[in-house]
Amino acid sequence: MAQTRRNLNQERGRHGVAHFAIERHLEGDAHSTLVADVRRGLGAYPKTLPAKYLYDERGALLFDAICDQPEYYPTRTEEGMLAEMADEAIRICRPSQLVELGSGASRKTRLLLDALMENGGDEPCYVPVDVSAEMLSRSADAVGRDYPELAVHAIVGDYDRDLRYLPPADRRMVIFLGSTIGNFTEIDARRFLRSLRAQLSRRDWILIGFDLVKPVEVLNAAYNDAAGVTADFNLNVLRVLNRELDANFDLDSFRHDAFFNVGASQIEMHLRSDHRQRVSIPGAGLEIAFASGESVQTEISRKFSKSSAVGLVCGAGFAPRHWYESGDGYFALLLASAAAVV
Ligand code: SAH
Ligand code: AVI
Repeated sequence: MAQTRRNLNQERGRHGVAHFAIERHLEGDAHSTLVADVRRGLGAYPKTLPAKYLYDERGALLFDAICDQPEYYPTRTEEGMLAEMADEAIRICRPSQLVELGSGASRKTRLLLDALMENGGDEPCYVPVDVSAEMLSRSADAVGRDYPELAVHAIVGDYDRDLRYLPPADRRMVIFLGSTIGNFTEIDARRFLRSLRAQLSRRDWILIGFDLVKPVEVLNAAYNDAAGVTADFNLNVLRVLNRELDANFDLDSFRHDAFFNVGASQIEMHLRSDHRQRVSIPGAGLEIAFASGESVQTEISRKFSKSSAVGLVCGAGFAPRHWYESGDGYFALLLASAAAVV
């Protein structure tokens, strides 16, 4: 059905195959999905919103700025690790297609793309998948320009729903960096990885970034940077609801609140109402009451141990091949084969 809404902009390259394409899968039903998600999340107790709505154009830029904050260690730690292991990973996987889920600015990806251009197959292809349309088209464009021998087939879509649109490939390597896997609940991560596995063949591979459990002060600081960029990123979801659903959230009356929940091994990011208030969201037909101090949970970011990460990946039918861990034990990358036995 979504196939009929498929909107493919293509340029043909030297082999007559599409050299640069952007495929859009969100246009038709994005609004009704937002309405349903907001009704479900804000109509419940405790109140929640799906984290993907943090990433409109402004939110994607704010996330990019978070990556540069001194307290936010995951990006630079993972980048340092990729610089060390990208060649080896590409040599093991030998992908003809590099798929990136939640590709964002595709910054760290370049380390893998460099290795791919050096050691990959004949006609390598990069397939970034992201809900954030503006950021995706900007970064896919830049990758296309900087890697003229690489075919780029970008997919604007929800990686939890649109993986069936991955273009066919001989051998895929699917990367999911930044510990974005931690933004799923445990149940959703299992379901998501199982459905990813169902889209892959035995020749394919995955590389997943996992943020690891560490001292609580380090975790809390990473989600409460002194410059207030994470707070602005969090509040941005209210701007999205004001714009898309004509809501009247007063951004000055909600406070960013992010903390590590030790028992659940997750950062929880909330927006907490300063006082008792009512908010109307006409686009979703809602009138919502907030008690003083009541919060909306806007994101979880789970923190893993080696055994919880390996267990998650094995449980979805992948065979772990390499566990790369940063020297400080802060972050890990798990390379796993889609073949049950390697
Ligand atoms: N991979 C990058 C960006 C991580 S931020 C890095 O490691 O730095 C998370 C990215 O996932 C954002 O670009 C956001 O737009 C995207 N995203 C979040 N939920 C998504 C979903 N359900 N489907 C597709 N992309 C999603
Ligand atoms: C994208 N994701 C892995 C980030 C994280 O750390 O969970 C999103 C983020 N939220 C606040 N800061 C960064």
